[in-house]
Formats: sequence, structure tokens, C-alpha cells
Amino acid sequence: MTDVKAVPTTTLNPDAVAGTAQFLTPIVVGLTALSVDGKQAHWHVRGANFQAVHELLDDVVDHAREWADTAAERVVALGLPLDGRIQTVAAATTTPELATGFQQADQTIAQIVAQIDAVLVDVRTAIDELGEIDASSQDVAIEIARGLEKDRWFLFSHIAA
Ligand SMILES: [Fe+2]
Repeated sequence: MTDVKAVPTTTLNPDAVAGTAQFLTPIVVGLTALSVDGKQAHWHVRGANFQAVHELLDDVVDHAREWADTAAERVVALGLPLDGRIQTVAAATTTPELATGFQQADQTIAQIVAQIDAVLVDVRTAIDELGEIDASSQDVAIEIARGLEKDRWFLFSHIAA
């Protein structure tokens, strides 16, 4: 009979586990920040494009939450904890601060695109570094990059010349 206590947390090598936590955790932090500020932007956007941008920002929030969950669950699936508490996210995120109050849509979009770009820095680092460490974790980062770049396009197209 199998010894229950002998079942390992994971059969991946320790470098893959540590690398996954190192490179996916900043993505969880950035996406969590983006999801919070995306809602703030959703509530305070104004202007001729209100309806479209208001609804699009909710898509950005939903996607950020979904991808944060995917990245976080990759880390914990390998047996390491991470810290997604709001105080930790606020202290650690590299996303630029969102202006308070009501804003015109072009201002809102420029700020949320800047936040997406900050998250993409960490996503691209993860893609570069995880390729040598763990292909499955790299794949998580690749999926997030593709999605974030699409959301960025949907937002940016409202202000592009
Ligand atoms: Fe809403």
C-alpha cells in the first residue's frame, strides 16, 4: 500500500519550483493591482466613449483576475506559497499610480495602458527566464502575454491616431 506521508508535493526539480515562484509571483502582484485599478477606472471614466470604455475596462479586470489566478495556482500547485494580500500588492506592484476622481476616457486609457505595460515587463522577464527552467510555467506567462497584449490593443485603439 502507498505510504500517504511519502507522497511528494511535486515531482518537479527544486529549480523549476523556485524559478516558477520567483518569476510568476510578480505577475500575480501586477495583475492584482491592475484588477483593482481597472475597477476604479471603470467607475470614473467619462466622455463620449463612456459606454465602450466602461465595458472594456470590466473585461480588462476580469482577464487580470483570471490570469492572476492561473499564475498563482501554478505556484501553489508546485508547493510554494505566495503573498497576494492587498498590503503586499500595494507595496510591491510596479504599476504606476492611477489618478483619483473622474477622468476623460483618453486619460483613463493612457493610464491603464501604462499599467498593462508595467505588468508586461514582468511577464516578458518570466517568458525569457522560465524557458530554461520550466516550460509549463513559461507557457502560463506566454498565455498571459498574448492576452494582455490583446487587451492593450483594444484600449489603445481608442486613442490611436
Ligand atoms: Fe460595473
